[in-house]
Amino acid sequence: MLVDCDPGHDDAVMLVCAAAYADVVAVTTVNGNVGLGRTTANALAIADHLGWDVPVHAGAARPLLADPIDAPEVHGHSGMDGVTLPDPDRTAPGDAVEVLIESTRAEEGIWLVPTGPLTNVALALRADPGLDERLAGICLMGGGGSGGNVTAAAEFNVYADPEAAAITFRARCPVRMCGLDVTHQVTTDATFAARVRGVGGPAATLVAEVVEAGIARFGRYATSTIDPPMHDPVALLAVTHPHLVEGTVAAIEVDTGFGPSRGATIVDRRIVTRDGVDPRVGVTTEWVHTADAPAMLDLIVDACRRWA
Ligand code: RIB
Ligand code: CA
Repeated sequence: MLVDCDPGHDDAVMLVCAAAYADVVAVTTVNGNVGLGRTTANALAIADHLGWDVPVHAGAARPLLADPIDAPEVHGHSGMDGVTLPDPDRTAPGDAVEVLIESTRAEEGIWLVPTGPLTNVALALRADPGLDERLAGICLMGGGGSGGNVTAAAEFNVYADPEAAAITFRARCPVRMCGLDVTHQVTTDATFAARVRGVGGPAATLVAEVVEAGIARFGRYATSTIDPPMHDPVALLAVTHPHLVEGTVAAIEVDTGFGPSRGATIVDRRIVTRDGVDPRVGVTTEWVHTADAPAMLDLIVDACRRWA
């Protein structure tokens, strides 16, 4: 597995699950929740905190075309406000795109799990047109079938770089979208934080602080749910534990215009068009719409237990 992320509180929980349940070839970082310097430092700090010897490589510092946006109201200016994480004593090389390409040349059949803006993924797909055919698939956190969280229409990861998202959804491998409609089914609360704390150890402390920080912040500005959703872990667990999600083959288009629906992901739920054609024929994108939330929350707790 290759993980491309923008830590980010929920990215941190996703990384705990990735370390516990996946064979991660590399973690790549991208500008997103906060700037690339911080998302990269956070990824290194999380790996160090877990004693996880995983390569970390930095990627794009800005979107393909759009002006950079960030989300300090959600994650704070550090990207991990409220979470005790010593700054890493190492840096990451800035070759994430090359790593995405070379890793899939060295080993075919890898799943790519992006949980931030898709800039690195799009750059790699453009730099190596054969990349998508070497992947098992792309399972991304982003978009959604029913509205956004940054605007009424768009979810943050897609809105931050709609052009990159459009390129990604056109990849010739399976592309699974775990959007807000499914990630908002997997929410946490103070009871869950206490349950995780009870496990003990560095991963449990990290996850509990993530949830508690989310509760503190979401109470102030909640765009769509008061209880912090585990967005990024859903995309990861959809690959490591695929029986815990349900999806539907559907064409997915990204609005790359500059109107009010910029960054929207349009899911084609039709089974026949007005011309009598099945619009799902030849489609390799999947709208993931249902998750087994209790089982996923149990897996997050069990992942923490690996470091108890
Ligand atoms: O909209 C939620 C997504 O945006 C999550 O991946 C979160 O970490 C932010 O990147
Ligand atoms: Ca993220």
